[in-house]
Parts: sequence; C-alpha cells; structure tokens
Amino acid sequence: MRMISKTQIDDAVIWAVANQKGGVGKTVTTVNLAAALSAMGKRVLVVDLDPQGSASNNLLSGGAGWGGVYGVMRGEIGAREAVQKDQCAGIDVLAADEDLVAVEVELVGIVGREAVLAGRLEGIRRLYDYVVIDSPPTMGFLAINALVAADRVLVPIQCEYMALEGLTRLMATLDRVAALKGLERIKRMYVLTMYDQRTNLSSDVVREVREHLGGEVAKTMIPRAIKVAEAPGFGRTVLDHDPWGAASLAYRVLAEEVANVSRS
Ligand SMILES: Nc1ncnc2c1ncn2[C@@H]1O[C@H](COP(=O)(O)OP(=O)(O)OP(=O)(O)O)[C@@H](O)[C@H]1O
Ligand SMILES: [Mg+2]
Repeated sequence: MRMISKTQIDDAVIWAVANQKGGVGKTVTTVNLAAALSAMGKRVLVVDLDPQGSASNNLLSGGAGWGGVYGVMRGEIGAREAVQKDQCAGIDVLAADEDLVAVEVELVGIVGREAVLAGRLEGIRRLYDYVVIDSPPTMGFLAINALVAADRVLVPIQCEYMALEGLTRLMATLDRVAALKGLERIKRMYVLTMYDQRTNLSSDVVREVREHLGGEVAKTMIPRAIKVAEAPGFGRTVLDHDPWGAASLAYRVLAEEVANVSRS
C-alpha cells in the first residue's frame, strides 16, 4: 500500500463516522456534528461516501447534482474543484451519487485501493479544521477507504436491542486498518444515539455499552427526537431546524468532545 504522507500540524483532523450496522444514526451524526463544528467557527468538509447520498441530499438543496466524490475517487476531478457549498450551515461538501457504487468495481485492480480516498484528500485537508466522512452500512471498499483516510473513527451505537451486535466485526476491521496504516490501534469514540430516557431499554443499553467500551464512549448521548427525523425533509440540519432542542444541544456538546480529543 502507498504510504500516506505525514499529517501536518495544521491539517484537518479527519473523522470517519462508521458502523456497518444500518440505520444507527451515522448520517444524522455526520451532518449535525459537522454543523455543530461549523457553528464553533471551524472550517468543515463533509465527505459523503455512501451511494445512498443522504448526507449530500440533506446538506445540498436540490440534491447532490453532478460529480462529487465519484469523480474525485476516479481521479477525473480534483477534490478542491468538486467541493460544493452548503448555503445554510456553511459546510463544504464532497457529494455522493449513485455512480459511487460502481467505483468499487472500477478500481478493483489498482494497487493501494484502500487508500484512494486518503490520497485524494491529501491536497485539501489543510484547507479545513475538520473533515467528517459519512460511510455506508457495509464493510466494503468505500467504508474501508473512509477508515483508512481517517485519523479517528466515530461509531454511533443505537440504543436498541442488540446494540453491541456487529461491533466485534467492526473492531476486527479497525485492527486490520491499523495494521495497513502501521498503527497500533485506530483511535475511536463511540456515541449512543436515539436515546430515550423514558424507556428501561435505553438505560439498559447505556449501562451495557459503557460497561463494555468504557472511556471511549462519548459522555454526551443523542436523544431520540422527532425534529431530527424531520430536518432533512426541510433541507436543514437539526441545528437549523430546532436550534434550542435537546438533540441540537447534544450535537453541540458532542462537537466539543470531538474537538477536545481531536488533537490528543
Ligand atoms: N436522534 C434521533 N432521533 C430520531 N430519529 C433519528 C435520530 N437519529 C437518527 N434518526 C432516524 O433514524 C433513521 C436512521 O438514521 P441515519 O440515516 O442517520 O442512520 P444511518 O446509520 O446513516 O443509516 P444507513 O446505515 O442506512 O446509512 C433515520 O430515519 C433518521 O431520521
Ligand atoms: Mg447513512
């Protein structure tokens, strides 16, 4: 695999939001963490590496439109040229589209295929404080590219039955990625999502997750709130849609936690 050049001190910290389990809050977390970091005055780029394109659709009114991360990964367009601007939240976006599904097959033979995205982001990471990558609910080529490109991984865990299911596999994948990058361990943070304080189930899950994963679990939990599910329909982040709501507050506090650990 091609060596990834050493990170400069003022380069963006790249976070991949990953969990191969579907529907756990990866996209909502990507979009609203990015919005909260942006509200802190940070320069933020969201990379949508999920062919479903939900983060792009949420952030870019009228959908992803042309190009985006597909062309960037194929080397047809530079990342800087492909970046689109979100008008409300002040976030830059490398959008996804359905063609992204094809990139896995198209780049099948190339050397260092796990590090394609890492290489493409090298030239623009110094323009940002944070890059947040949304990844698809499968552990294939795209998700591995997200993990290899990232300095740190944020793993949303839904407060549901079987919350820890699949995490052993995710951890094994992180170990593989660490080996690829010549690191001992990939730095990570887990965040509990869709927490419902009225149910015993949520508190049981919280206890279990904190017991197993300890200090790597974010202190902040993201509450379940109807406004979170509603916001993308208005083309808004939750921070715009319901600025004083509990979920907005939680994402702001999470952004503080993320910022605090990022340079450690
Ligand atoms: N805090 C929350 N409160 C209420 N609904 C939420 C919350 N977080 C996520 N949801 C809803 O749960 C569903 C899954 O969330 P999201 O799309 O972020 O998950 P995902 O992990 O990105 O899914 P996929 O694996 O399909 O990419 C969405 O309908 C979203 O609106
Ligand atoms: Mg998603």
